Amino acid sequence: MADIQTGRDSFSSKFGIIAATAGSAIGLGNIWRFPYVAGENGGGAFLLVYLIFVLAIGIPVMLSEFTIGRGAQLNAFGSFRKLKPGQPWYLIGLMGVAAAFMILAFYTTVAGWTLEYIYQSLINGFSGKNPEQLHSMFESFTGGSWRPLIWYALFMGFTGFIIVAGVKNGIEKYTKILMPVLFILLLVLVIRAVTLPGAGKGIRFLFQPDFSKIRASTILEALGQAFFSLSIGMGTLITYSSYIKKHEKLGQTAVFVALTDTSVAVLAGLAIFPAVFAFHIEPASGEGLAYITLPNLFQQIPGGYLFSLMFFFLLGVAALTSTISVLEVIVAFFSEELKMTRKAATWTATLSVSILGAMCVFSTSLMANVHIFGKTVFDLLNFTSANILLPLGGFFIVLFVAWFYGTEKTKRELSNNGTLKARYIPLFIFIIKFLAPIAIAFVFLQGVGLIKLS
Ligand code: TRP
Repeated sequence: MADIQTGRDSFSSKFGIIAATAGSAIGLGNIWRFPYVAGENGGGAFLLVYLIFVLAIGIPVMLSEFTIGRGAQLNAFGSFRKLKPGQPWYLIGLMGVAAAFMILAFYTTVAGWTLEYIYQSLINGFSGKNPEQLHSMFESFTGGSWRPLIWYALFMGFTGFIIVAGVKNGIEKYTKILMPVLFILLLVLVIRAVTLPGAGKGIRFLFQPDFSKIRASTILEALGQAFFSLSIGMGTLITYSSYIKKHEKLGQTAVFVALTDTSVAVLAGLAIFPAVFAFHIEPASGEGLAYITLPNLFQQIPGGYLFSLMFFFLLGVAALTSTISVLEVIVAFFSEELKMTRKAATWTATLSVSILGAMCVFSTSLMANVHIFGKTVFDLLNFTSANILLPLGGFFIVLFVAWFYGTEKTKRELSNNGTLKARYIPLFIFIIKFLAPIAIAFVFLQGVGLIKLS
């Protein structure tokens, strides 16, 4: 329902805010990417560095986005323009909208695969296949063109269906159901994995710090992972927080969401590695871990049919609560700045994103030979959004709040004009003035290859 004063939709409850925001953060980044990256980068040692980055940089960037969004009560572009009229800061918002297009295109491609794998789980399609056959099953599926495109379109359709219903009756309503489902499924999978005989090796793989694997590149990898996983740097959280009411405690929300996101990443690792090690399966890299290694595993464990179905459903749910948050960035921009109705904005955005999305889907088939800067469309959008646009956006977002929006206004926003206790503010200001921008600049320069540390 629209707010009486502003005419804008908003979240109706604290749980709704948490479900939506945590839903955005928790996604393929946690369940599919984190376990593998952590495993490759020294397990527990990576986890330690990652945790430090989430606390010291991730939370401050998140809180900066909250400050902007709730302060302005507008979409990412409009927020910057309202808070600093006549200055080109709105370009950061525009960059966020562009990043949203790119992320939706490649992210939804991977999300669409979950639908194929839910279907395969249902019809028991993995049964009797050896690792090589499962491998070629994945390759021939992604190497086809129509099947993955249909799954892509269906996933985009689900995303649009939720977004068109609005903030309270769409985003909030569905994330409030889907997030608890996700937690229950994840817990069941973790319990299954850690109680397998021989699970200890996988647990050690994830937690035992191997400091010899920590390099400069590892540290930067951890920061990049933190940005992507927390959904920061492109205005998703500016947009979501513009629907948060003034009496809510933003600091508390940021800390809670960041810690929940991190816990889910760790739990996903706990659901995957003990099982992988218990069955002596080589942990494959990248998408292979979820789509090749796990089907192999599910065939070997008691109850595998059900666990397979649960895992891919979990992955799909996690992805859906993230894709809606990215689509909302574009829809809020289209409807508030281009004055479209929500319905027109949603379907215009969904359709135009799908054109770019089709090119990502075709990156492993019809367009496998199309290379731009030496990369397929999928790889290019993945690389550009995560390694360039997010750090750049995050950098300017903290600079904006710390140096241009100003300390006084920030204090007033976070404390709701002094009515809420927020003793962390001086520490927060210090971090966003100095620590966060320097650290982010570092990742960015490494990401684009301007500095090479190892
Ligand atoms: N954080 C999500 C994940 O880990 C993905 C995501 C959603 C995202 N919104 C974002 C990433 C905005 C970057 C920016 O899967």
